[in-house]
Amino acid sequence: MLKRILKWTGILLLLIAIGITIAVATRQNLKYDAPYPDIAISTDSTVLKRGEYLVYGPGHCADCHGKVDMLAEKERGDIVPLEGGFKFNLPVGYVYAPNITPDKEAGIGNIPVKALARALRYGVKPDGSILFDFMPFHNTSDEDMTAIFSYLSTMQPVNHPVPESHLNVLGKVVKAFLIKPAGPTAEVPKSVKEDTSVEYGKYLANSVANCRGCHTNRDLKTGAFIGEDFAGGFQIESPIDQAHFACITPNLTPDKETGKLAGWTEDVFIKRFRMGKLIKHSAMPWGPFRRMSDDNLKAIYRYLQTVKPVKNKIEKTLIELEA
Ligand code: HEC
Ligand code: HEC
Repeated sequence: MLKRILKWTGILLLLIAIGITIAVATRQNLKYDAPYPDIAISTDSTVLKRGEYLVYGPGHCADCHGKVDMLAEKERGDIVPLEGGFKFNLPVGYVYAPNITPDKEAGIGNIPVKALARALRYGVKPDGSILFDFMPFHNTSDEDMTAIFSYLSTMQPVNHPVPESHLNVLGKVVKAFLIKPAGPTAEVPKSVKEDTSVEYGKYLANSVANCRGCHTNRDLKTGAFIGEDFAGGFQIESPIDQAHFACITPNLTPDKETGKLAGWTEDVFIKRFRMGKLIKHSAMPWGPFRRMSDDNLKAIYRYLQTVKPVKNKIEKTLIELEA
């Protein structure tokens, strides 16, 4: 009797396992739908200048898509080729930053601009599959999205092929069942007035420069936000020695005791950004951020003074990982 029960439970478990495996496998090719933003390439020189500023400044595309071995140049905030290839080593597998130069084979030269803008805004790749949520541009205005892609289309194409990303078993399960394309959290503005206001700081910190994305605790498997906004505590591996070092992001909320910026004036804040990277294992894009204008930094500083103060003491910034 017992033997028969064991045999049948065994078969049942096997069937369930086969079922899950098939479901995971077929759900790897899930296609999603999302609208195409109303974006078209512009050749206007003001638009192109704005694009260059966003791409190499607050939008820090070079930090992930820049030529991999040009570390010193990236840390200075130089204009480096956006030929891709950086490998993100995640609990779910490897994801590579693609080549975003206008090369027709290895880059994005053959992809319509509306499909590229859709990928950034709605997390749906040109082929309809899901884009992992690495980038903070879901709420980036139509005007800035136009500037970014117009400028990218004028860059030197680089024929540098980037390997396909590779997901492990956990990654495949996450992709099949746990994540959905990430999209805008509110109606996306056509344009946002650039000034030193809290409102503009909010736009930069959340929708362009990704301060929130790193300075908020997140689940590394799904990318979901699990901490209070800007309260820090997110562990990010060293970009130069992933196996041994990581940084914990500081608390940027205006909490008097545990906030990193307690006692920082606007002037100190701006000066800190001009200094660039001080901790070599830091993943913060200090290089590109050095290019940010004083006015943009003022806006971000002013905005950070208005977010909800959260008590979250970050004891140590740099940590050594156990082997
Ligand atoms: C934090 C790292 C990071 C930053 C910053 C970043 N990207 Fe990406 N980007 C990625 C990764 C990783 C992928 C691939 C994700 C995937 O395959 O699911 C990607 C994918 C893309 C794609 C999709 C290409 C395609 O056809 O599938 C485009 C376009 C793109 N990025 C443009 C940009 C632009 C423009 C900027 C700056 C305004 C930028 N990225 C900033 C990491 C980044
Ligand atoms: C890719 C992740 C990432 C992004 C994006 C990011 N940071 Fe950071 N930030 C870090 C890490 C990691 C540290 C800790 C290591 C260090 O100080 O460089 C840090 C440190 C800081 C510090 C403390 C510097 C010091 O000298 O103690 C400030 C201030 C700061 N970030 C502000 C910002 C602001 C403002 C933005 C948006 C404009 C931002 N960060 C975007 C990862 C990030």
